[in-house]
Amino acid sequence: MKLSENQRKAWRIKVDYTNMTDKYLGDKGISPKTIDKHKKLAREAHAYVSENRGKDELFMGWTELPYNQTEIVEDILETAKNIRKKFEYFVVLGIGGSALGPIMAFNALCHLHYNDLPKSKRKGPKFYVEDNVDPVRMKELLDVIDVRKTCFNVISKSGATSETMTQYLIVADLLKAAGEDVKEHVVFTTDASRGNLVKISKELGGVKSFVLGDGVGGRFSELSPVGLLPAAVLGIDIKLLLKGAAYMDKMCSSSDIRRNPALVSALLQYISMQNGKNIGVLMPYSDNLKYVSDWYAQLWAESLGKNETLAGEKCNVGQTPVKALGVTDQHSQVQLYTEGPYDKVVTFLSVGAYKEQFPIPHGCENIPDVGFLGGHTMEELIQAENKATAFALTKAGRLNYTITLPVVNEFTLGQLLYFFELQTAYAGAMFNINTFNQPGVEAGKKATFALLGKPGYEGQKAELAGAAPDENYIV
Ligand code: PA5
Repeated sequence: MKLSENQRKAWRIKVDYTNMTDKYLGDKGISPKTIDKHKKLAREAHAYVSENRGKDELFMGWTELPYNQTEIVEDILETAKNIRKKFEYFVVLGIGGSALGPIMAFNALCHLHYNDLPKSKRKGPKFYVEDNVDPVRMKELLDVIDVRKTCFNVISKSGATSETMTQYLIVADLLKAAGEDVKEHVVFTTDASRGNLVKISKELGGVKSFVLGDGVGGRFSELSPVGLLPAAVLGIDIKLLLKGAAYMDKMCSSSDIRRNPALVSALLQYISMQNGKNIGVLMPYSDNLKYVSDWYAQLWAESLGKNETLAGEKCNVGQTPVKALGVTDQHSQVQLYTEGPYDKVVTFLSVGAYKEQFPIPHGCENIPDVGFLGGHTMEELIQAENKATAFALTKAGRLNYTITLPVVNEFTLGQLLYFFELQTAYAGAMFNINTFNQPGVEAGKKATFALLGKPGYEGQKAELAGAAPDENYIV
């Protein structure tokens, strides 16, 4: 899809941080003086990210994904076309960064009841992302798909993730039992040369595979084949998604916080965290954007939750991401946000124009509590509730800001993803931490290996035996 400059501008997402400032929040807000004091830090963070962009050795390869995938995109589109022709079900097997992006894009850009639509109204096969090893979920997936008519996209950078490989072992076994050629039913998205999926592909005689580049970590991989293949299978315009990301990249080229939305957002979050605001609520007012919060939660938590700076100093930084949905969670969480501890920053995701309109019919005029709704639209109602919640939080001295997507489409989602990725990289640079590793996740993985008897983990198994529950503390 070709976009004119005017169209790009009309679809440009905007960050409004009015309600973070002391002008509107009084002493609970951030003052211009504080912002000024941090401008140098912001410029340095911007310089760090700009100078290191594209560097695989620093896991910064994701910055270039909007630009360096021309051939890969063509291959993905061709593969997706074949998958759509051949299969009735498309199942992603992956976890964490290998699942949350595909879930988010599916929910944002497809019909909210996509799998329930008749085939003629869907652009692709029925779609599932299996990101857990709950046996009930596995069994019940198998109740609704037919493996003989299913393409499984096994996504794992390492090829060593127990959850994903367990799922692979199960489906490979089922395919063989059904007399199918496994190779014809799987597509791998993995490392170029390392990892078990590469070995398995060789054993099977060459599985169609896409590469997850060295410099692209799982949580920064949605704009790589990890996210692009599932999206293309669903008929999502992946070129437009990448254009949106490139547009945001351009919008963030300045080191001036007034002209770089991701940088100002990172700085406001950084200042807030330094002031003890260690909870970050992301609250989209849109069901389509609901799973942006899940994807963002991983990006923000795994990237910033660190105990050591790059200089080796102890730090214990990070912000706990909380997922909320407007308006649904107004009726569950907003009480806490308005009156509870001053420990949060609330980020709203607002939508300028929803893709559907729903007029509210007149009726019940004799009941004022109901009658006033008639003649409005559902869009007016959800937007009014969004504004009203921001207003109420501001009145209560609670830090909040709003990111507005003029519409929800590939171009705006691409912008939003890249915005959050840049924001995360800037914030990590401000803290001077390694944004791109996750040592805290490894300990649990190793303990699981030990418990299940993986060779090489015998020592840890003995240690775990010593960590058995203490009867004194069981009631
Ligand atoms: O962000 C990350 O790196 C992780 O969430 C990984 O994506 C997740 O652990 C899955 O790893 P892999 O892709 O190696 O299976």
